[in-house]
Parts: sequence; C-alpha cells; structure tokens
Amino acid sequence: MKTIGVLTSGGDAPGMNAAIRAVVRTAISLGMNVKGIKRGYNGLMEGDIIDLDIRSVSDIINRGGTFLYTARSPKFKTEEGVMEAVENCKKFGIEGIAVIGGDGSFKGARSLSNHGIPCVGIPGTIDNDISYTEYTIGFDTAMNTAIDMVDRIRDTAQSHDRCSVVEVMGRHAGYIAVQTGIAVGASAILVPEIKTDINDVIEKIKNSSTTGRKHFIVVVAEGVGGVEEIAKAIEEKTGIESRATVLGHVQRGGNPTVRDRVCATELGNAAVHLLSQGIGNRVVGYKDGKLVNYDIFEALNMKKEFDFDMMRVAHETSI
Ligand code: ADP
Ligand code: F6P
Repeated sequence: MKTIGVLTSGGDAPGMNAAIRAVVRTAISLGMNVKGIKRGYNGLMEGDIIDLDIRSVSDIINRGGTFLYTARSPKFKTEEGVMEAVENCKKFGIEGIAVIGGDGSFKGARSLSNHGIPCVGIPGTIDNDISYTEYTIGFDTAMNTAIDMVDRIRDTAQSHDRCSVVEVMGRHAGYIAVQTGIAVGASAILVPEIKTDINDVIEKIKNSSTTGRKHFIVVVAEGVGGVEEIAKAIEEKTGIESRATVLGHVQRGGNPTVRDRVCATELGNAAVHLLSQGIGNRVVGYKDGKLVNYDIFEALNMKKEFDFDMMRVAHETSI
C-alpha cells in the first residue's frame, strides 16, 4: 500500500490522538503516505480528508479528544453511504484504513473491507466493553478521572455524614463502575450485568452503620441509572441524608494516562504493520497482556465474560 487513511469514530476517548499519531508516524516510517479522515465515516462519505505528515501529529500525544473529530454516522450503515465512501477512497487514493473506535465502528470497517478497502480496527472507548480485547484506549484515563471526582465527593459526604450515590459512564457495561468502585472503596457497586436488589444495598449500609461508618459511597453504572431514586430510597430507609451525582462527560475528557498513551501507540503501530502487508478486515487488541489481532467478523462475535470475581472482592472489602 502507498496510501492509508486514519479516522476516529463513535464516542471519543482519551488516547485517540496518541493512536492517530502512532498510525501516522508508523506509516511514514514504513514508506507510506497518510490521509486524515475527519468526523469518522461522515468525512469519508463527504470527502473531508486531509494530508497528514510527521509534524501534523506533533504535540497531540498528551491531548484528550481527537483532533480528527469523531461522529456517529447513521448514513454509513446504508449501502449508499458505503458506496460513497468507497468512491472517495478511490478518489483520494486511500488503499486501506485504520479505524479507531468501538464495536459499531468496527462493523463499518467490516463493510468497507467487504467492498475492497482493507481496514484494521483499533479499540478506542472508555467503556472497555469490546469483547475480543482485554483493554480499550481511554478506559484507564476515564477511571482515573472518575476516582478523582469521587474522592472530592467523599470529602463532602464525610463532612456531612451523608451517602453519595455516583453514576459513572457505561451504557451497556459495568467495567468502569467495578474498578472505580473498588478504587474508591464504595459500599456498593451497581452494574447492568448483575441484577441488584436496592434493599440489599440498604441492608449493607445499615450494617456498616452499626460498626461506626457514617458516610457512604455507592457507585452506579449509567446502564443501571436511576441515581436520584436510589439516593431517595437510601435516605428514606436508613435515615442517612443522601445525594446523587452524575459524573457524565467529564470522564471522556482530559490528558490520557501513561497506560492509554502507551497502548494507543502500540495498537496504532500494530494496525499499520498489518495494513502495510495488505492485510485488512482485522482488529488489534490484547489477550493475556499480549498484542493480538483477529478477523473482524470473528472478533465481533466473541463474548466477554464479566469479571464477577472483582465484584466479590469489592463486596468482601467494603463491609
Ligand atoms: P462505537 O464505535 O463507539 O461502538 P457507534 O456504535 O456509534 O460507536 O458506531 C459508530 C459508527 O460506526 C456509526 O455511527 C456508524 O457510522 C458505524 N456503524 C455502526 N454500526 C454499523 C453497521 N452495522 N454497519 C456499518 N456501519 C456501522
Ligand atoms: O461509549 C462511550 C460512552 O461514553 C458511554 O459510556 C456513554 O453511554 C456514551 O458514550 C455517551 O455517548 P454520547 O453522549 O457521546 O452520545
């Protein structure tokens, strides 16, 4: 391949810029040219495509967000949308694409690969909910932001002898909630993967009260939701004043941590090595801590086991 493209798609994640940088620098090191495709598949359909050189990606390894912008592009799910994208690949001489995003973006990458544009997917989402890989770019930064925020909430919860119910991101997955919950010593963690009876949470808080605890943190994944109602129920049934906080998009921003910068660099580099050999329709990721790549179709059909043992650890250490 002489020329490859790079795009970011779906929700942004800290570390996406580091991944773009790795794609660009690796491609140039291997003698290829790189085009930056703006706003995900929208830019590919609309021809919003720029040349990238070594210096285009200077000073972005440390920055959150994505300098190529990102989007959700419903039109790209149609045959018409894919054909427009394929036409633009031909027009701009793009022979392969590194797609940085989540499961949805990889389905788009599969469509392009099926239409003769080899694509390699790089996992980027704060949710860490992509089945085939142990880690996705942005997860570590998002959790570090979340624990920083919850630590602040704890200060005020402690001062007022309150219970704080905090919603963290994860529309379909509780990975952020579990690890954040453990890291802040939450009294309870509620995730979409496990049905929890609010009365069990209330009982646990009551029991902890009897051993002298006066303030509490409950971490709730976005996919469970209802933090206001949960706080109200806790207050009514325990008599402990309770407050609800939704952390929201603060978790998606900020400078990437060392883990996200290094993973993004490693994954971006690996994706380009595949493309440089003409290999597409693949995704890169981690298994047992090692870099792996899989066929996209195979990867999209894999199932990720929720780490129930982490919930046990959280439960046993938060009495
Ligand atoms: P993520 O990549 O984070 O999972 P989305 O699910 O929003 O985010 O997907 C991002 C984009 O990927 C969508 O807006 C769409 O353009 C493309 N996409 C998603 N699903 C498909 C699909 N089944 N076929 C083709 N493209 C898809
Ligand atoms: O997938 C990442 C994520 O941040 C989810 O945790 C959240 O539910 C969703 O994106 C929010 O998406 P947006 O506000 O960008 O539509």
